[in-house]
Amino acid sequence: MTSGTSFRRVPYHVGIVMDGNGRWAQARGMPRLLGHRGGVNNIRPVLEASVGFGIKALTIYAFSTENWARPPAEVSGLMKLLSETIRRQLADLHANGVQIRHSGRMAGIEPGLQQQIRDALELTKNNQRIILNVAFNYGGRAEIVDAVRQIIQDGLKPDDVSEDVFARYLYTGGLPDPDLIIRTGGEYRLSNFLIWQAAYAEYYATPTFWPDFDKEELRRALQDFEDRDRRFGKVKTPS
Ligand code: IPE
Ligand code: IPE
Ligand code: MG
Repeated sequence: MTSGTSFRRVPYHVGIVMDGNGRWAQARGMPRLLGHRGGVNNIRPVLEASVGFGIKALTIYAFSTENWARPPAEVSGLMKLLSETIRRQLADLHANGVQIRHSGRMAGIEPGLQQQIRDALELTKNNQRIILNVAFNYGGRAEIVDAVRQIIQDGLKPDDVSEDVFARYLYTGGLPDPDLIIRTGGEYRLSNFLIWQAAYAEYYATPTFWPDFDKEELRRALQDFEDRDRRFGKVKTPS
């Protein structure tokens, strides 16, 4: 265990399933969309805390391919929220050295929002302080299908396809696999998040709803991670 902000070992890449916005709002007698707003407002402080702890890449699960099945008003509210967030926060994120990436299917996203996303990626592509990878219209299965389609399109032969080559065809191509996956909101499932990349990630679940997940909670998750014994299938070497 480590106190303060320095850990013996910090995950390079952390994935967060930002769950519990709806229940957070419900508990306050508010509509679900206000929960999503509360959730969006929580991204910035957690991103800054991540930089402070030495995390280099953060993937946040913002909208899944399955979330289209929610009531239309909630879906369009979530689309508007992303658009508004890019409009309001992009310049500041860029000024703070945040490299924005997107993992997900562009098809299906409204064209204006697609353009906003492309502009955000282009503007911030050389920033180095931290990578903020936004999983939006993301599904792990869709990602694998899209990779297979592209591999076929590119004419690769069966022997050309290795795990490394395949990984490069995923939306996360070039990004190291997540070391730690955090899920807020109390559920113990992946919900189609990074199913390929998280093969050897450590998992951490907290009942705290996403809008309430703060620096102290992140510290607890990192502390837990520090004490995990990652064996990757091997036998632990005596120390
Ligand atoms: C997570 O919060 C955000 C999205 C899935 C977009 P939820 O909206 O799933 O909140 P709960 O799980 O219903 O409380
Ligand atoms: C996972 O949360 C997706 C996001 C956080 C964007 P869900 O609320 O959609 O997952 P389930 O339905 O509980 O599995
Ligand atoms: Mg949920």
